[in-house]
Amino acid sequence: MNPALYRQRRLQLASRMRAEGGGIAVLATAPEHTRNGDTLFPFRHDSYFHYLTGFDEPESWLLLHADGRSVLFCRPKNPGRETWEGVNLGPQAAPAVLGVDEAQAIDQLADSLRQCVPQQPPLWLLSAAPSRHDVRLLDALKAGAAEANVQRDLTPLLNDMRLFKDAQELSTMRHAAAISARAHVRAMRFCAQRFADAPAAGVHEYEIEAEVLHEFRRLGAQSPAYPCVVAAGANACTLHHAAGTAALHAGELCLIDAGCELDGYASDITRTFPANGRFSSAQRELYDIVVAAQQAALAATRPGARQRDAHHAAVRVLAQGMLDTGLLPRPQHDGVDAVIASGAYKQFFMHATSHWLGRDVHDVGEYDALDEAQVEQPDGLGGMERKHPTRRLQPGMVMTLEPGLYVRPSPSVPERYWNIGIR
Ligand code: GLY
Ligand code: MN
Repeated sequence: MNPALYRQRRLQLASRMRAEGGGIAVLATAPEHTRNGDTLFPFRHDSYFHYLTGFDEPESWLLLHADGRSVLFCRPKNPGRETWEGVNLGPQAAPAVLGVDEAQAIDQLADSLRQCVPQQPPLWLLSAAPSRHDVRLLDALKAGAAEANVQRDLTPLLNDMRLFKDAQELSTMRHAAAISARAHVRAMRFCAQRFADAPAAGVHEYEIEAEVLHEFRRLGAQSPAYPCVVAAGANACTLHHAAGTAALHAGELCLIDAGCELDGYASDITRTFPANGRFSSAQRELYDIVVAAQQAALAATRPGARQRDAHHAAVRVLAQGMLDTGLLPRPQHDGVDAVIASGAYKQFFMHATSHWLGRDVHDVGEYDALDEAQVEQPDGLGGMERKHPTRRLQPGMVMTLEPGLYVRPSPSVPERYWNIGIR
């Protein structure tokens, strides 16, 4: 925990608020969720809130004034609860530990908001996380401040900050990715060993998932960043197939899409491998096409390129592969450009190649047009047109590259490719 880093982020956000009229920002962390009965799901902070505070306790709010002053509201010390749940920080210790200017007990929140918000319009809230606010409290707040206040959305300001990862964030993300890579290797070795020992017996998806989760936790990650996909054979044609009771058999492929979360940052890796270490020729053909698509996407990903260039590059390779293998038969499908223009490739590749990665697995940030004023650009016909500027990739942005091919049985598709799913 480096309080200076979080303070720096709060000051940067405050400066952006000042540039747009000042005011006061109010953010809550995530709510706790009941699992069943009196048992809660493990608590996971709100990504925006944690980005600005580094604080991981439930029932926490942040008030950020446009002059940069920050007030944290948190659970008071409670020896009774601490007996069960462990020590909580409490408002007295919070300023020194978190670098906030002031901290108060959470039960002071409503009074504080009623006092300070109407005096400092506009009121900045996160439209991205409306359910995370106490609705009654905010309604009261807005009613009380109806005349004086203008409500503004913090989401674009924070998304734009979170899109660019600093050195510490990149280091954490590299570490998370390294742990996930080790977990994938562990799962592959586990399968190799099992098929070496008992070639005819299957290996359950849940057993493979257990290897992945074991390695995540063993190496210090707190949890998976999203539910593990472990798909045996035909199950890989379901994009987010949750590891279940199906068995992986020799001759089938295993698709694992699993990434750990480390210190609030996600990783996201997908790999597909033959259960017993040997591809069939049909599996190998499709696998090589997907690898070529990944390499094309990687080559298209560099500073100055557009985020969607990776997808376009991958689609072109995949579409060519679909024609070469007869997944899309000629003459109905007349060349790569026609396959791309008609969208016929989506029968076998129906998702995006890439998404931002960060605190959330599908991380925040604009992909294409910036929310800025339009600019004059050549229209390609000798004139000029007004358009939103296109976002270009810059150092510090993090994105996945995960092309795939998924072939469900169909009379129009060569049978040798049926039920192969690769990402
Ligand atoms: N790799 C999982 C996902 O992007 O949804
Ligand atoms: Mn992904």
